[in-house]
This record gives sequence, C-alpha cells and structure tokens, in this order.
Amino acid sequence: MGGLLRPPVMIPDERAARQGCGVPKPGIGASDLAEVIHSNESNEWVKSAILYLGMSARISASRQAPWRLLSWPFRHIRWKIVLPYAFLTVLLAVVGSYLATELVTGSLEERFKNQMAEAGRSVSDKVVHKEREHLETVRGVAFTEGVAGAVQAGDRVALEALVQPIAANAGVERLEVLDARGNRLTALRLAATDSVTYEPVSDSDVPAEWPLVQRILQGESDGRGDKYAQIIETSDGFVLWTAGPVFADSGAAGVVLVGTALESFVRQTKAEALAHVTVYDFAGSPLASTFAINDAASAEEANLDMSAAVLDDSIEGTVVREQRSLFSRNYDLLYGRLELRGQVVGLYSVGLPTDFIFNAGSDTRTRVMLLFGAGMAAVMGIGLYLTHQLTKPILRLVRTARIVASGDLTVRSGVISGDEIGILATSFDEMTDKLQLQHLSTIRALTSAIDARDPYTMGHSVRVGQLAMMLGRQLGMEEKRLAQLEIGGYLHDIGKIGIRDAVLLKPGRLTPEERKIIEDHPAIGLAILEPVDLPKEVVQFVEDHHERLDGSGYPRGIRNEQVSIHARIAAVADMYDATTTERTYRNPMSPGDAFDLLRSESGRLLDPRVVDALAAILDEWEERRRREPALRGFRLPDLELPKVSV
Ligand SMILES: [Fe+2]
Repeated sequence: MGGLLRPPVMIPDERAARQGCGVPKPGIGASDLAEVIHSNESNEWVKSAILYLGMSARISASRQAPWRLLSWPFRHIRWKIVLPYAFLTVLLAVVGSYLATELVTGSLEERFKNQMAEAGRSVSDKVVHKEREHLETVRGVAFTEGVAGAVQAGDRVALEALVQPIAANAGVERLEVLDARGNRLTALRLAATDSVTYEPVSDSDVPAEWPLVQRILQGESDGRGDKYAQIIETSDGFVLWTAGPVFADSGAAGVVLVGTALESFVRQTKAEALAHVTVYDFAGSPLASTFAINDAASAEEANLDMSAAVLDDSIEGTVVREQRSLFSRNYDLLYGRLELRGQVVGLYSVGLPTDFIFNAGSDTRTRVMLLFGAGMAAVMGIGLYLTHQLTKPILRLVRTARIVASGDLTVRSGVISGDEIGILATSFDEMTDKLQLQHLSTIRALTSAIDARDPYTMGHSVRVGQLAMMLGRQLGMEEKRLAQLEIGGYLHDIGKIGIRDAVLLKPGRLTPEERKIIEDHPAIGLAILEPVDLPKEVVQFVEDHHERLDGSGYPRGIRNEQVSIHARIAAVADMYDATTTERTYRNPMSPGDAFDLLRSESGRLLDPRVVDALAAILDEWEERRRREPALRGFRLPDLELPKVSV
C-alpha cells in the first residue's frame, strides 16, 4: 500500500507560490492571485509581496484606509524588522552629516574670523613698525654730524654723501632733506632693491607745501614731539612720509623726510597679513591696494570705494566688516583706521576670500554625506541580507501553508534548521504528511469498495491511477498534475457503486438497456463526488474517462479539444487495463495485442500522444504489474478470501 503513496513534493521556490490542486477557497482574489504568482515565479520578493497582499487583504478590510496605507509595510515581518532599523539609520546619517558639516564649517568660520582680526592687527602693527623705521632714519640723518652744517650751507654734494649711506643702511625707499625754507637739498629714491642703490628724484613736487613739512618749518611741536607723519600724493604716487627737523646750533636748519610708497607698503603688509590690503583716504577712495585697482580692465570688476556708512563708522573708529564681490569672488573686508603717532593718517581694509569656506564646507558636506551614505548603504545591505535570510524560511512556510490550505497536500516546506522556525516547519510538514496519508487512505478505501464489488475489476482502479500517472510523467506533466491523475484513476469508476449487481456483475454480454445503465456510472460518480472539494482535473477524469475524440464516447459525447488531457490519459489507461484483464465475456489480451488495439484507435478514439507515451512506458508498466502486489488489486482483509475464492 505504501508503494502507492507518492513521495511528497518539496516546495521549490519556483513552485511554492502556485495555487494548490484544490478548488480555490472563496476569498479575496484567490484565483487572480494564483495567476499573478504564476507569472512571477522567478521573483521571490514579488511572490512574497503578492502572497502577503492576499493574506493581509482580509485583515486590512476591517481597518481605516489611511491607517491601512501607513501600516501596510508593518504587516510583513521582513519590513517590521527592516523599516525601523532603516529609519534609524537614515536619521543617524542625516543628523550625523549635519552635525559633522556644521562642526567643520563652524570651525572654519571661527578660524576665518580670527584670521581677519589677525590680518587687521598686522596692518596696524606694520604701519607702526614702518613709522618706527622711518623715525630711526630721520633721527639718524638729523643727528649725523655734518648734516646740519651741510643743510645750513646748502651743500648738496656733502649732504648726499652723508645721507645716502644712512638711507641704504635702513633700506628706505624715499629720503629727502629740505633746508629751512623748504627747498629740496637732497631727494633720493631707491632705484634697485637688490643692490640698494639710489637715484636722485627730479620731479615737480613741492615738499614745502606738504602740511607735515610746513608744521616742522613753523617749528610746531605737539605732545608726541616735533615729528609728523602723513600720506602725501607725489609724482610717484601716494607715499607715507615721516618728517622731522634738523637742528643746528642756531635752531631749526631743515627738514628730513623719509617715505615709503603706499603701493610698496600694502605689498609688504600683504605678505605679513596674508590678506589683501587696501589703504583709503578720508573720502573712502582707495589710494593703494593689493587688489588690482590699477588694472583698467579689472577696475570695473573691483569697486573698492568705501560706502558712506562704512566710511563713517570706520572714521569713528568702529571696526566694520563687510562682504563684497571683487573680481567675481566673494571677499570679507575688515576696515580700520591707519594710525601713526596717535594720528589717523588714513583708513585701511584687509580682505580674505570667503569662497574657500563655502568650498571647504561643501567639500566636507559631500565627503561626510558620501561617508555616511556608504556606511548607511552597507548597514542597510547587511541588514536586508540578514533579514532576508531570517525571514526566508518563514515566508516559505507561509507559502506552503497557504497551498496546503487550498487543498494541495503534495507540497512540503522543506525548511531544515535547528531553530524554532525549523522545528515549526518540520512539524508542519509532518502534519501535512499525515493529512495526505489520511486523504489517500480514504480514497483507497473508496477504491477498495468499488473494486470489491466485482472480482473481474480487482485492482483495476489502482492500476488505472498508477498507469495514468506514469503516462502523465512520460508526457512531461508536473507533479501536481500527476497527483490529480493518480486520484482520478482511483476514483474514476466510483459511480459503479450505484449500478445494480444484476447489471454490474452480469456474466456475458449486456443488453442495450443494461449497457445504458452501465453508461450512467460516470454521471453517478460525478454526483457522488460533487460535495467533495476535489480539483476540477480529478472531476474531469471521473466524468470523461469514457469520452472519445470522435465524439462516440459517453456520457456527454464531447469531441476533440473538448476532451481534456486528463480525460484522454484516463481513456488510454482505462482501455489498456480493461483489455489486459479478464472479463466475464472474454479472456485477457496480451500487452502486445492490447497495445495494437489501442494503436489502431489512435487518432480516432484516442490521443496519439498518449498512445505514444504508452508505447514508451509499456515494458516498465508490465514489469511493475508483475512485481507490485498492490497493482494486482488491494482490498480489505476480510474481503480478500471470498474474492479469491470466486
Ligand atoms: Fe469506467
């Protein structure tokens, strides 16, 4: 008996989602669901989602629509694990990126502000330092022996010989000595920085008119002494001058002027401040700048004029910071007063490009986001993989349960693991084993009841079931269909229960009326099986196993395409077994003769493909018939002896 039980079909992923062989239970789109699942066999995720949709549809029908949408993902165990974890990962990545970027840009801005302030201090220090250099040179000239005399005497040659070494020693750019009336006695300009050589200045400037010179010539003196500093426009451009008197025994004999060109001053200052430096007059117009204000082409791009508000605040001594676009770049400018000897001699600004902060911030943001993004992707990928591994057996078990619930007892989850899920799956498979065994046992009992009535048909139903299954396998049908063929074969003559013994067991040939009664057995079988929830293929087998392709069969007389493949296989299996077994009205035919008979009807009554399949398996089938007792008829033990005695 056990040999007739086919091994259970392990549910492969490709087939797991298929609808079972049973008639689908009324529910939410069960058949539609099966179709969709069928068409997506290769995509396990899609199958899972669709199956879950089917399951959750019932639950969700009782809930409010908006909540249903929001909570839908959480009905799937995979997303219940992944979504909170994904949400936290994204949150961490976003907050982390923001904080890291803020920290970096905040630090950059702080450093930038410090650098601006430091640059401003550098300018102030530089001008004081420059004045100190000037003053040392002024004093050096004024107190050099012979200078006062030469000035008084108007001896230009002697004076130049005396002052030039002092100028060279100090490296000053401009040095002039005036007599007591303000006339130039010596005017030197640094001609070559490397060799520290000087050349005489012959321009139309009139130093005597310069305010700081006039104050000295008039013998003025303030709280800081008798020396003055001022920015003066000369033929060579703006020069920062420091002036002091030359005293002779008789009093003031002349004036010493030491100067540095503003252009040179801002260049030197830029090197120390590491920022662009601009010096302005009190009207806010730039006098010298390390920005290319002298370049005509660039001048339009770089408007360095101070705005009125900035100018007023700067003159009052307020440190003003301003953003300005120069040469298509954004700069931050810090304004301050240029003070010498407690006097404001002009205004200045230091400028630093702000682009690098933005660029650095942007770079940092990009890097941090890439870093967090890669980390997040890795975490999500690993999480999804682990979740997938964890939930795969659960989903497989869910699919198996649904197929079993739909009536297909041939599937098994096949989940093998030692954890709780594995134990659950094994228990479920064992439970399905028992269900299938009980199911087949019940059918076998019915089959025995059919065969027990007629000793000549002993084992006929089992053989038809087994032969039909072999034919189906030879035709390439899938396991689920083979199970239907087997059950169909077992039950195909169940309608004979309803035929009177006088007709069913009548020896010899039947009258036309009796034959008519016998031909009712498919319809009776159909009526018996109607309340049973059997697959339609099994029902077709029972109802149509006497139908023929040419329409000469019964009970419906259907033909060609109207005859299902199950009915065609049933016809061949039934006819072959009937002709090779003994009947009251004739002896059994040999397998070869029986096959020849079937071959002669191939194409007319029988499907040629099925007949060909029979040819292929004929030897194997006959071997089975000889070897397997069950194929010679199984019956209830108490019925076995009387049957044999007949
Ligand atoms: Fe029959």
